[in-house]
Amino acid sequence: MPRLTFVVLGGIQLLAGVSAQTWCNKHYMASQPVVPPGGNFPIAAVSKDPLLAFRCAAAIKPYLEEDVGTPAGVLIDSPVVYSEIVGAQPIGLPAGPLSSAGKLDVTVSLNGKTLVNALVPLNASAYELSFSLGGITPQMTPYNLSCEATYPASNSASSSSPQTYSASAALSVLPNPTNSSVTKMDLRTGALLAKPATGLGGEYEPIFPIGFYTTFDGYLSTNLSAVDTLKKQGFNIIHIVPTFANMTAFEMVLDRMQEVGMYLMYDMRFTYMNNTSVMEQVNSIKYRPNLLLWYTGDEPDGTSDPLNATSIAYDLIYSLDGYHPVSLVLNCQDYEWASYTAGTDIVMQDVYMIGNNVTWSNEWNTTCTPDYGDCGCDNCFSIPAGDSAAVSPNSTYYGSTVPANSGIGSYFDISDRVSSFKNRLEVMGWERTKAVWTVPQAFGSAEYWMRTPTGEEWVVQSIMGINQGALGVVPWVDPNPEYIKMAASAFALSLPKFTSYIFNAASVRSNYLVGGVDIATWAAGIETLVLATNTDYVTSKVTWRDIGLSGAGVEVVYTSGSVETTGNSFTFGSVASAAFVVKSK
Ligand SMILES: *[C@@H]1O[C@H](CO)[C@@H](O)[C@H](O)[C@H]1NC(C)=O
Ligand SMILES: *[C@@H]1O[C@H](CO)[C@@H](O)[C@H](O)[C@H]1NC(C)=O
Ligand SMILES: *[C@@H]1O[C@H](CO)[C@@H](O)[C@H](O)[C@H]1NC(C)=O
Ligand SMILES: *[C@@H]1O[C@H](CO)[C@@H](O)[C@H](O)[C@H]1NC(C)=O
Ligand SMILES: *[C@@H]1O[C@H](CO)[C@@H](O)[C@H](O)[C@H]1NC(C)=O
Ligand SMILES: *[C@@H]1O[C@H](CO)[C@@H](O)[C@H](O)[C@H]1NC(C)=O
Ligand SMILES: *[C@@H]1O[C@H](CO)[C@@H](O)[C@H](O)[C@H]1NC(C)=O
Ligand SMILES: *[C@@H]1O[C@H](CO)[C@@H](O)[C@H](O)[C@H]1NC(C)=O
Ligand SMILES: *[C@@H]1O[C@H](CO)[C@@H](O)[C@H](O)[C@H]1NC(C)=O
Ligand SMILES: *[C@@H]1O[C@H](CO)[C@@H](O)[C@H](O)[C@H]1NC(C)=O
Ligand SMILES: *[C@@H]1O[C@H](CO)[C@@H](O)[C@H](O)[C@H]1NC(C)=O
Repeated sequence: MPRLTFVVLGGIQLLAGVSAQTWCNKHYMASQPVVPPGGNFPIAAVSKDPLLAFRCAAAIKPYLEEDVGTPAGVLIDSPVVYSEIVGAQPIGLPAGPLSSAGKLDVTVSLNGKTLVNALVPLNASAYELSFSLGGITPQMTPYNLSCEATYPASNSASSSSPQTYSASAALSVLPNPTNSSVTKMDLRTGALLAKPATGLGGEYEPIFPIGFYTTFDGYLSTNLSAVDTLKKQGFNIIHIVPTFANMTAFEMVLDRMQEVGMYLMYDMRFTYMNNTSVMEQVNSIKYRPNLLLWYTGDEPDGTSDPLNATSIAYDLIYSLDGYHPVSLVLNCQDYEWASYTAGTDIVMQDVYMIGNNVTWSNEWNTTCTPDYGDCGCDNCFSIPAGDSAAVSPNSTYYGSTVPANSGIGSYFDISDRVSSFKNRLEVMGWERTKAVWTVPQAFGSAEYWMRTPTGEEWVVQSIMGINQGALGVVPWVDPNPEYIKMAASAFALSLPKFTSYIFNAASVRSNYLVGGVDIATWAAGIETLVLATNTDYVTSKVTWRDIGLSGAGVEVVYTSGSVETTGNSFTFGSVASAAFVVKSK
């Protein structure tokens, strides 16, 4: 979130006579004409006939030399779709349900040598086939797995010869690191796997990252004990925001983080387009045992950085390190998403919708539309007309009736953004190899944002992202008001009680909306995690039946705001949230 800096830079550019002022490639100053920004993610064409989007991916990225003796996995996806997503090819299916349409005969090979052959159902998701890494020499560059599928003519209604499909996948089998940690990604769930950040050894565990973008100069740099406090508060990462004016202090902060077991998200926002600088930074940080991941572009789509910039940095980082994934945040709803996302393993979204006017720019005094304007929340929608329950009671707007296009931000812009990023990953064939994280708003009372979220509102934002599949929470920004820190801390301290459900590859997520209450459930065996949040500022009730549960065996594992449960329902006060674990017999 570089807007302050951006505004300053913008001023400098203006003085220098550079006139193009854009955000998400839109003009936003009243003096500028409307020019469509372009760069929209293409809408996949509809197909009237079924298509098979056959895909494969290595289950873990990377495997290590030490993993060679244990079975490895390759994940097969075989969605049957009616839209022309990347790689989808026609499939002649018999009449009737897919479950009786037979299976695909799948062969996975490396350099012509078959690793595994198996039958895989149609429309499968992350169907795992096991193979041996034996005989594969560890090396820094990934291998290229070939995956072939045959749909036998005997199954098909329309084809007299077998139909074939092919896909490929990167397989990383790296030498054991001599001097660094490794962050793996479990492509079954999207979870990062890491050993404890202390560097003192231990097993790889799934990490649900939660921790703030944290100012360095003048904050962390002058107060080492802040690191201890953040750890005690339940956070597991610190995303340190440059600049780093005092490198002695910087090294001391990293040392303290390692001592207390806090992971680092290393930010190169100002330098990621400078190869020399990236090289210096990666080489100096890559041996840190608590390095969890790299971070390159901070809203590169907002500033319209060159479309190849994130990929160039990504390739460079992998050529220098290779043991840690790369992340970035995108701010625009729909500007050159695929180009920027090509250069990352983790794409974050940062919809900020609290306290700003999402349809009228109170910074630039213009409207905001898909073609024009900057309201601090790109292409965000106002709450629906008449929806007074969604208006904060402290708001001075609309005592009685909320008009259309009111400018009041909606929490559903967060869930829409996360789910549209997830959908685009599926369209591109990246749904296994890339994950989505969410950036809640923990600031305000500046620029576009007239006020700062409350603690409960911070929690609502976070759950809106997680309920759509976001696998990390990195709020902007620390320092922040104590009441936000307390709310975030309570959430962070409770997270370990429910991340095992989210990171269970066998769990199935279902989403519900009951009135203004957004709910996701993760069902695995006899246990179901329920994560629910009230986007309304009025008391709202949900019956267990609404979400397909009986209400027996409910354990409350987290609450925010006013939460009451009974045998047949739960009731939330204004913007309250809760997590429940439900055990059925
Ligand atoms: C494939 O599975 C998805 C759920 O994963 C379902 O929504 C879709 O309808 C299925 N496709 C077909 C063609 O049955
Ligand atoms: C992997 O091999 C396939 C052909 O099987 C090819 O189309 C693809 O470009 C290769 N990918 C890489 C990264 O080399
Ligand atoms: C340092 O940080 C701690 C914990 O966040 C805080 O209690 C303390 O007041 C800070 N000290 C200074 C000098 O800012
Ligand atoms: C840099 O930080 C170190 C450690 O906090 C401190 O001792 C030193 O005085 C700082 N240097 C400057 C120039 O502020
Ligand atoms: C950075 O490196 C990439 C590839 O290594 C190269 O294409 C690009 O031009 C370099 N950028 C600069 C600014 O030198
Ligand atoms: C790129 O980074 C190097 C190393 O930090 C620095 O010396 C150089 O001035 C930077 N180049 C630009 C154009 O900022
Ligand atoms: C291992 O990392 C440390 C920094 O943590 C560095 O000083 C040392 O040179 C590295 N050793 C090797 C063999 O790369
Ligand atoms: C990256 O894109 C820029 C234009 O924005 C172009 O000048 C440059 O050659 C491209 N670099 C590579 C490595 O493709
Ligand atoms: C927007 O309007 C306000 C109130 O009239 C004014 O103070 C501000 O300078 C205007 N901003 C711009 C960029 O014109
Ligand atoms: C409304 O304002 C009061 C007093 O400032 C504050 O305690 C409360 O948290 C606010 N509530 C909301 C929903 O903004
Ligand atoms: C947004 O701005 C419009 C136009 O000035 C105004 O009518 C509306 O009340 C504002 N809404 C909010 C939430 O600020």
